[in-house]
Amino acid sequence: MTVQPAGSPAITLQFETPEDGPLVDALIDHAFGPGRFTKVSERVREFATFAPELSVCAWSEGRLLGCARMWRVRVGGRPAAFLGPFAVELGERNAGFGARLIARACEAAQAAGETHVVLVGDEPYFARVGFSTAAGRQVIMPGPVDQRRVLVRALRPDAGELAGPVQPA
Ligand SMILES: CC(C)(COP(=O)(O)OP(=O)(O)OC[C@H]1O[C@@H](n2cnc3c(N)ncnc32)[C@H](O)[C@@H]1OP(=O)(O)O)[C@@H](O)C(=O)NCCC(=O)NCCS
Repeated sequence: MTVQPAGSPAITLQFETPEDGPLVDALIDHAFGPGRFTKVSERVREFATFAPELSVCAWSEGRLLGCARMWRVRVGGRPAAFLGPFAVELGERNAGFGARLIARACEAAQAAGETHVVLVGDEPYFARVGFSTAAGRQVIMPGPVDQRRVLVRALRPDAGELAGPVQPA
């Protein structure tokens, strides 16, 4: 799938393959630094099931510009997708690539039958792409977190609310 926001180079959005793994890891390391391993989202990823078929990479002329990884978990016993890490290369930000990565990953999750996507992040950014603090207020992370950063996007109108601990899928 190729998308071209006004005034930006074309990017191709593709699901992550095993061969992409090292490049995606390098992009994430670059964006977050070693501090990322202290985040509560990393505790989730220690037990979550990686879902490459829902994880999206943005490419331009063979160069990886961004990624949004997805995982499968349960929240209060219900299946849910967990998003992250999510990053765009420093020189490529503010061109809408991040929003497009999120949109594609959520679309894939919805098509796969998921009802909710959960993440830990900045509400001012993620509210723009459909996530809400209110919807995440009853989600219990496996470690200390500012609850206002626990965000959920429902993927269908009848999805209901997620409530309870985040656990393995
Ligand atoms: C977050 C990130 C992926 C966004 O990628 P992007 O391609 O620049 O995103 P978009 O182009 O869709 O959106 C850019 C807009 O979001 C804003 N924005 C970016 N990060 C933001 C944040 N943390 N809080 C609020 N607004 C933010 C930008 O200022 C810009 O605003 P504008 O459209 O009014 O100019 C990118 O900034 C990044 O890689 N950051 C470092 C890693 C990170 O923090 N990841 C998220 C962790 S949960």
